[in-house]
Amino acid sequence: MDKIVIRGGQKLSGSVRISGAKNSALPILAAAMMADSPSILHNVPALKDIQTMMEVLGFLGVQCEKMEPNSVRVDPNGLHQFKAPYNLVRRMRASVSLLGPLLGKFKRAVVSMPGGCVIGPRPIDLHIKGLSALNAKIQVEHGYVVADGTSMRGSDVFLGGRFGSSVLATANVMMAACLTPGVTTLESAACEPEIVDLAQFLKKMGAQIEGEGTHVIRIEGQTSLKGAEHTVIPDRIEAGTYLIAGAMTGGRVEIQNVHYRHLFAVIDKLREAGAYIESRQDTITLRQEDPLKVVDVITLPYPGFPTDMQAQMMALMSITDGISVITEKIYPERFMHISELNRLGAKISLEGSSAVIVGRKKLSGAQVMASDLRASAALILAGLVAEGETQVHRVYHLDRGYERIEEKLRKLGADIERVPETQEEKVTVGEEL
Ligand code: EPZ
Repeated sequence: MDKIVIRGGQKLSGSVRISGAKNSALPILAAAMMADSPSILHNVPALKDIQTMMEVLGFLGVQCEKMEPNSVRVDPNGLHQFKAPYNLVRRMRASVSLLGPLLGKFKRAVVSMPGGCVIGPRPIDLHIKGLSALNAKIQVEHGYVVADGTSMRGSDVFLGGRFGSSVLATANVMMAACLTPGVTTLESAACEPEIVDLAQFLKKMGAQIEGEGTHVIRIEGQTSLKGAEHTVIPDRIEAGTYLIAGAMTGGRVEIQNVHYRHLFAVIDKLREAGAYIESRQDTITLRQEDPLKVVDVITLPYPGFPTDMQAQMMALMSITDGISVITEKIYPERFMHISELNRLGAKISLEGSSAVIVGRKKLSGAQVMASDLRASAALILAGLVAEGETQVHRVYHLDRGYERIEEKLRKLGADIERVPETQEEKVTVGEEL
C-alpha cells in the first residue's frame, strides 16, 4: 500500500485540469450495456472505481476497452449473464447501478446487496420501490436482489426518501424505464448534474427522456437502444476540492475544464468565507488574499451544498478563526474525518449530525489514516497547511475518486509525494484498525 507524504506551508498557485466525473461515468458505463451496439465514452477518469466497474461489466460479458488515456469503447454484444456477484459488487457500492440496465435489457437481474460503508448505512429501499413500481418482481434473498422484469410496464414513481432524492435510485429507475413499455414519470427525482449527463447519454442512444435536471423526469420506453458517443461532464467534487486547496493555502488556483453552475453552492460558500472567485467559459479562478471567515454549512441534495464536499469544507473551517457549524443532512454519520483532523490539531466536536469547529491558527503534521474517499481528501488538504510533515496512510481510498491528486497538487506547488509504506507500517497501520 502507498502513503502520501506532505510537508505543509506552501502557497498553491497555478492551473489544474479537472478530470471527468466519477459519479457520472459509473452509471453511464452501466447504461452502455443496454445498447445493441458499441458506445464510445470520452473524458472517463482513470480511477479505481472506474476500473472496478469495467471489471464487473467484463464479468457479465460486456467488453470495455481503453482506447486512449481517458476514452473507453464499451461493446455490449457479449453480454451473457445477469448476475453481478458479491465478490465484485462489495468492492464498489455503485455496482448497484447495474440493476436498472440489466432489468431493462434482460428483464432479469441478480445483483448482490451493496452493504454499508464508513459514511453510513447505504440502503437501497428506494431502488427497490422504484423498480417494483414498474412491476418488476423483486426478492431479497441470501444477500442478493433477485429481480424479474418480464412483466414490467411504465408507471408513476415517487422516489423521495428520508434524506431527499436518491441519485443512483433515480439512475436505476430511469435506465430501466428506457426499455420498459409505456410512459414512466419519476417524481422527486434527483437533479444532480450526473443524472442530467446520464440522461443526455441515454437520449443519444435513442431513449425518450424529458425533465432531467428537475424533480420530474418523464421517460417513454423504447424497444431497443443503439450505441452512442459521449463525453462525460467534469467532476464538480474534484474541482471543489482544488478550490478549497487554494483557499486554505492563501494561494491563487485556476481550475480548467469545469462547469461553473455545477459548483455554484460551493462557490457561494467560499465567497462567503472570503475567497475571491471569478469564472470565464470553462475556467474558475480562486484567489485567497483576505483572512478566511467562518461560515456555517448544511449539506443538501443538488443544487444545495454537496455532501461530497462536507469533509473538505471542514478542513477549511479547521484553520479559520472563529466557530463554525457543519450539519450533514444526507449521511448523518459521515464524520470519520473528525478524529483524524483532530490528530492534526483541529478542534472539532460532534453534536448529533452537526460538527462544531473551533478554528485554529495552526495545524501540526502527524500520521493519519484515510477512511473514505472524501475524508481522505480532507486530510490531504489539512496536510497542505499543517506545520511539518503529514503522512496519510491507506491512500487507496483516494485513488477511488481522485485522478493523480499528488501530481496535480505538486504542479500547483505543494510539497507532496506518494511513497510505498514500509513493511512495519503495513503491519501497525492494519493493527490500529
Ligand atoms: C451518490 O450515491 C454518489 N455516488 C455519492 O458519492 C453521493 O454522496 C450521493 O450520491 C449523494 O449525493 C455515486 O454517484 C456513485 P443517494 P448514492 O442514493 O446514489 C439514502 C462519493 O464520495 N438512501 O443519493 O448511493 C442514503 O442512505 C460518493 O463520490 C435511502 O434511504 O446516494 C443517503 O442518506 C459517496 N434509500 C441519501 O438517501 C435508498 O434506496 C442519499 O443517497 C437510497 C438512498
